[in-house]
Amino acid sequence: MEVKEVLFMSKGHGEDSYAHNSTYAQKVASLAKPVIANTVDSLLEECFFPCKLLNVADLGCALGPCPVTFMSTVIESVQKKHALSNCPSPEFQFYLNDLPGNDFNTLFQSLSNFSQNYESLSCSIMGAPGSFHGRFFPRNCLHLAHASYSVHWLSQVPNLTSEEGFPLNKGRIYISETSPRVVKDAYLAQFQADVSTFLKFRSEEMVDNGRLVLVLHGRKDKDFASLNSYIIWEKLGEAIADLVSEGFVEEEKLDTLNVPYYTASLEEIRGIVNEEGSFQIEHMEIIEIDVGGTSLDKDPHSKGRKLAKRARSFTGSIISHHLGEEIMDKLYGEKLPIFIGDDLAKGRKKGVSIIAVPKKHVP
Ligand SMILES: C[S@@+](CC[C@H](N)C(=O)[O-])C[C@H]1O[C@@H](n2cnc3c(N)ncnc32)[C@H](O)[C@@H]1O
Repeated sequence: MEVKEVLFMSKGHGEDSYAHNSTYAQKVASLAKPVIANTVDSLLEECFFPCKLLNVADLGCALGPCPVTFMSTVIESVQKKHALSNCPSPEFQFYLNDLPGNDFNTLFQSLSNFSQNYESLSCSIMGAPGSFHGRFFPRNCLHLAHASYSVHWLSQVPNLTSEEGFPLNKGRIYISETSPRVVKDAYLAQFQADVSTFLKFRSEEMVDNGRLVLVLHGRKDKDFASLNSYIIWEKLGEAIADLVSEGFVEEEKLDTLNVPYYTASLEEIRGIVNEEGSFQIEHMEIIEIDVGGTSLDKDPHSKGRKLAKRARSFTGSIISHHLGEEIMDKLYGEKLPIFIGDDLAKGRKKGVSIIAVPKKHVP
């Protein structure tokens, strides 16, 4: 599967769109605001103050409110710092990056209010379609690059077939507690390769002391030994297995489906950044969010329906590419809500996110 040709978040701004269903990513984006503001502050303080032009990229921006939250946080932090020293605000150049399948039209249509809010500023926003696993910005041009909930998507699914041709992760679509060691190792190796390439290209594109702000879906436990955090692929895999048992999906389809996604631990991310060597970590933290929200206690199954709809908006393109569009309503509309609801009924679940701020080394 060529992930970069298949993956996209649900388009448009209707009921089923990612823009409408990215509530969880919005919560994460809002919790990441202080880190972004501090990062902008230390970036400016160190070597770019007062600055004339700030080049900023949002990598894997998708559509919806998150890119706006990010850009507003950057602009307001920069303005505040310049106002305190009676300096004029710099010009801003934002590059909104995502894969070519992203709905850039809806994204840019939704930015008209944003531009009005900052009318007095010199701020241009450009679309930058392409994979961040490659190089596409000029050398030494970016001051700040942000990637929220995008770098945990892998460039490809690791090879999970034995030498004899048997599926190594039979009956599952992601790493589960009972997945064999070889599956966990293959996923980690793919993540290490992808993040190292990502860091190498960004280090070429960023100015010295430039900062990355990476926000990733992650995990707290060391070794997937106890999946106490919420990972939607678990429930999605169980729902697909149920469709297999009822004869709606062929078993072989399930056995050959593995998602291009990895929930890393803090230590794994730190290890990759240190090993690659172009950046040093300036800040790292874990944030946890209750996936059920406040209405959970009353009706976990209605929450299950909502979460299944949200899940379809970001997992749908990958799953329908493998299983076919015909089964999608049954999977996300009937089965998945039950599996999520049953799980939530057993107790509250927390989603884990990791924020990392790598700073580019000065040679
Ligand atoms: C869950 S969305 C997150 C979007 C937004 N940053 C947010 O926080 O709501 C993940 C986005 O990453 C993008 N993405 C994944 N791999 C990518 C790659 N290699 N290059 C560029 N974008 C990528 C996906 O297309 C998707 O739009």
